[in-house]
Amino acid sequence: MDSILVTGGTALHGEIPIAGAKNACLTLMPATLLSEDPITLTNAPRLSDIKTMGTLLESLGTEVTSMQDGKVLTMSSHNLTNLTADYDIVRKMRASILVLGPMLARAGQAIASLPGGCAIGARPVDLHLKAMEALGAQIELRDGYVHAKAPQGLKGATIEFPFVSVGATENALLAATLARGTTILKQAAREPEIVDLAECLIAMGAQIDGHGTSTITIQGVDRLHGVTHPVVTDRIELGTYMLAPAVTGGEVECIGGKIELIEAFCEKLDAAGLSVEQTQRGLKVKRTNGDIKAINVTTEPFPGFPTDLQAQMMALLCTANGTSVLEEKIFENRFMHAPELARMGAQIEVNGGMATVTGVERLKGAPVMATDLRASVSLILAGLAAEGETLVNRVYHLDRGYERVEEKLGNCGAKIERIKGQ
Ligand code: UD1
Repeated sequence: MDSILVTGGTALHGEIPIAGAKNACLTLMPATLLSEDPITLTNAPRLSDIKTMGTLLESLGTEVTSMQDGKVLTMSSHNLTNLTADYDIVRKMRASILVLGPMLARAGQAIASLPGGCAIGARPVDLHLKAMEALGAQIELRDGYVHAKAPQGLKGATIEFPFVSVGATENALLAATLARGTTILKQAAREPEIVDLAECLIAMGAQIDGHGTSTITIQGVDRLHGVTHPVVTDRIELGTYMLAPAVTGGEVECIGGKIELIEAFCEKLDAAGLSVEQTQRGLKVKRTNGDIKAINVTTEPFPGFPTDLQAQMMALLCTANGTSVLEEKIFENRFMHAPELARMGAQIEVNGGMATVTGVERLKGAPVMATDLRASVSLILAGLAAEGETLVNRVYHLDRGYERVEEKLGNCGAKIERIKGQ
């Protein structure tokens, strides 16, 4: 397995191009299952999770063609030859469950392996399944698989989610586009990735209203046609790279960044004493001299502070002046980076969903272990800030969500290299 070696202490200067959003692409790709016509996604990120979704779709009969080194993906689901999402693929990536709704809507039946738990918590899919039932599907759980059937097709319904779930909103939205009648999703997720999905589906002929708010209304249609759609900018990659000059000092412009994708995060950077400027080409972050101020952060569904940036923000706050409190409200076990950061000299106390971080003058390089996707990159950020060398082991998580991380940071002056595993 590869490792990343970071030698800290260099201020960063330059620009970093931000890719299309992994999480948007992972929900846009299953939309191909809704139509006999090809759909093309441009601005796709080149990541292993995207390849995994491609493999899953191919196993269902979709032809997936990748061009421009993976930046353009064309998917044609003229014939669905298999309606089972197999355990071997689903277990690698939880987002695989997003094929359930579209398969059910198009073919009236679907079998999908349950994704199981993952490092950051139990993460059940009960809300996805309840939404499918509300749309008229019969669901049975057998041998670790969801067996779903809707012999008469899906029927529109009002679905009120008990709390916000990005994935369940996406699955319900995908399925409802081809259901008979009207579906109303209440307490729906409002993330930019949901808006991107809705816009793609509308361009395919779907009738959708209210996306971006917590009530989405979908009027079912008989068929959807092909489309070419650009994937929205990855706000999590954006926030991560905005933190790079924040931890090291310097100035970096994140090309393609837009404040509206990441407003709550920018407010926190501002409170911590950093300057964020919207330019013609993106978002520019500058840290001149001066300490980082301690701040409190609570993760929430969009438009709140994203849970996917909590680990990276913690890396910054490790050297802030004073004590910061981070509260994780989305996932129950998402502080696994804390003990790794502590190995680098950070002072962090975790108590349930709260982490108290007391800033230290300087972090010190150490060998550390990546435990999940966002934790991995938080360790790289910490390594950039630290004195000496940090070896981040087990970086396969990183490759699921960040393309060419060494190149993007290296171009701004970071001393970072990949060490190939045996
Ligand atoms: C998506 C993102 C992930 C991000 C998360 C929250 C993708 C591929 N992944 O994950 O990066 O961290 O949103 O912004 O887009 N839950 C249930 N039952 C369900 C579904 C969810 O209890 O059926 C719980 C989860 O365990 C979690 C909370 O709801 O505690 C929110 O999860 P959800 O918004 O569904 O996250 P994902 O869609 O899995």
